Amino acid sequence: MNFQIKSLKDYQDAYSKSVSDPEAFWAAIADHFQWKRKWDQVLKWNFKEPKIEWFKGAKLNITENCIDRHLVDKADQPAIIWEANDPHEHHRVLTYKQLHQKVCLFANVLKNNGVKKGDRICIYMPMVPELAIAVLACARIGAIHSVVFGGFSAQSIADRIKDAQCEMVITADGGFRGAKDTPLKNVIDDALVQCPSVKTVIVLTRTRTPISMIKGRDKWWEDEIKKVETLGLIDCEPEVMDAEDELFILYTSGSTGKPKGVVHTCAGYMVYAAYTFQNVFQYQPKDIYFCTADIGWITGHSYIIYGPLAQGATTLMFEGVPTYPDAGRFWDIVDKFKVNILYTAPTAIRSLMQSGLDYVKDKDLSSLKVLGSVGEPINEEAWNWYNENIGKSKCPIVDTWWQTETGGIMISPIAGVTKTKPCYATLPLPGVQLELVDEKGEVIEENGVSGNLCIKFPWPGMIRTTYGDHERCRQTYFVTYENKYFTGDGCLRDEDGYYRITGRVDDVINVSGHRIGTAEVENAINMFTDVVESAVVGYPHEIKGQGIYAYVILNHDSDDEELTRKDISMTVSRIIGAIARPEKIQFVKGLPKTRSGKIMRRILRKIAEGDVANLGDTSTLLDPAVVEDIKNNKL
Ligand code: PRX
Repeated sequence: MNFQIKSLKDYQDAYSKSVSDPEAFWAAIADHFQWKRKWDQVLKWNFKEPKIEWFKGAKLNITENCIDRHLVDKADQPAIIWEANDPHEHHRVLTYKQLHQKVCLFANVLKNNGVKKGDRICIYMPMVPELAIAVLACARIGAIHSVVFGGFSAQSIADRIKDAQCEMVITADGGFRGAKDTPLKNVIDDALVQCPSVKTVIVLTRTRTPISMIKGRDKWWEDEIKKVETLGLIDCEPEVMDAEDELFILYTSGSTGKPKGVVHTCAGYMVYAAYTFQNVFQYQPKDIYFCTADIGWITGHSYIIYGPLAQGATTLMFEGVPTYPDAGRFWDIVDKFKVNILYTAPTAIRSLMQSGLDYVKDKDLSSLKVLGSVGEPINEEAWNWYNENIGKSKCPIVDTWWQTETGGIMISPIAGVTKTKPCYATLPLPGVQLELVDEKGEVIEENGVSGNLCIKFPWPGMIRTTYGDHERCRQTYFVTYENKYFTGDGCLRDEDGYYRITGRVDDVINVSGHRIGTAEVENAINMFTDVVESAVVGYPHEIKGQGIYAYVILNHDSDDEELTRKDISMTVSRIIGAIARPEKIQFVKGLPKTRSGKIMRRILRKIAEGDVANLGDTSTLLDPAVVEDIKNNKL
């Protein structure tokens, strides 16, 4: 497509156009897509309610853009290449034609089971092609998908299903991840005890572990496919969607206890995911593009499925983990499929870096042209290691900053165009109008200063609402600073105008690139029978970026502290999922509080970071002895 930025001048021109005339800028890009009807108005917005409408009046189906239109010239080109967890299992390739057939068939399965436009469907699946097929089949018939990451617990799934009132769950008997298999259907069974809205569960065969199948509710994926084939329901016309019809919900953590369902809509999200994919990675026809994320997170939605497929790319999906069967797995995959673009997370890079160069040295990585990073700040050491040992100092690294709420990449180098700088996400993409503000909400104009990162103008991929609770969306993102979207991130703009994300400024911890709300973890810990109160903070962790440090008050001394820690961890696993388990649990007699009863997290953070000499102003503490006790018993 010819909206590709090829030089710094192209970037500068595109950027200034996107600011001086955003509507003309995005309309020209949207023109490259397939519409059933064009828009009446490109953009209508206010950040007060907020109400954001892009391409109002337009009609489309995103799957027609991601699949059907490529059948003309790319029918036999691989759309999805899938590599199994076990390197001995044969990989699979789905061409655009095959993807079309499979999506249509499964879309008919959904319809045959009574699913209609607007219904919500929870997808809890391993990283197999059928996950992408399920997502696209929902989009094809206008059902709203809510993918839940396979690491979440039954309770977390139930909360998400209830919040969205899902009618159906699509899952698998189990999933393979590294040396383990996860009993996905069992987890769903536990979740569904609380979820009367779910009438049907479709179960894909993957691990073939024994599972329960409840008559009338649970159906095998394979049987359902046979049924529609027998009925001759092969093709499936895409549902005609309004630009602002909901495409999906994706739950993410914030500073309050309950995860919120970020809602993205059809047209703006599609245009933005596709535009940013094309430009940031500089994808060229026939390139093999490998994003190592899980589809349970936004990166998988935008940059495994929708962005690449909208551009007719070949996207590689990997079922396993970077360290199984050994720490050379990513490099084997790059070598095996001659991957050209690799997009991964700093936590994976740090863990592979720690395993040493033996796993890299015999691998042919010469196909690589572009490397990407996402999810958390990448430290200089990891950046250099990635650059030297994987990119052989010839592949630009695109450090992409964005969020579930932004739908697509916001700040990033454009590969080969923007001069990179370790640890810097560099410059905003066209259409992204950043602002740094200080604590008082004053806009910071000068360079070389840090502030809170805000965005002052809408972009097509932005969040529209939080499902079922629009007020929460307003409060979370649009109230802190008037007339701006507040990201929750701190950011430095250096003398060159380059942006460096410094981390969250709210009570959110970023563990291995996954957002975890401290309040959510505290709620889970507090559910443990002997816990009176707890406070959770993040601390620097060598591999995960941040680890979870919990300070816990018990109602009586534990006879076996180690065992109690394990019990608490297990409780968190049950309530949220293993990803939210605290790394460190320190039992304390009290928590540092102000006279008004507010926990002084700043102090707890400093202690967890090991910076006990700089606790700052402690004069407002109710009981300074508490801090001494915590300091003396630090883990
Ligand atoms: O703090 C930022 C961090 O991840 C947060 C968004 O998390 P999530 O919605 O789960 O999406 C992750 C994948 C887009 C941000 O608020 N973050 C994301 N990318 C970067 C980053 N921090 C620094 N550098 C990045 N490149």
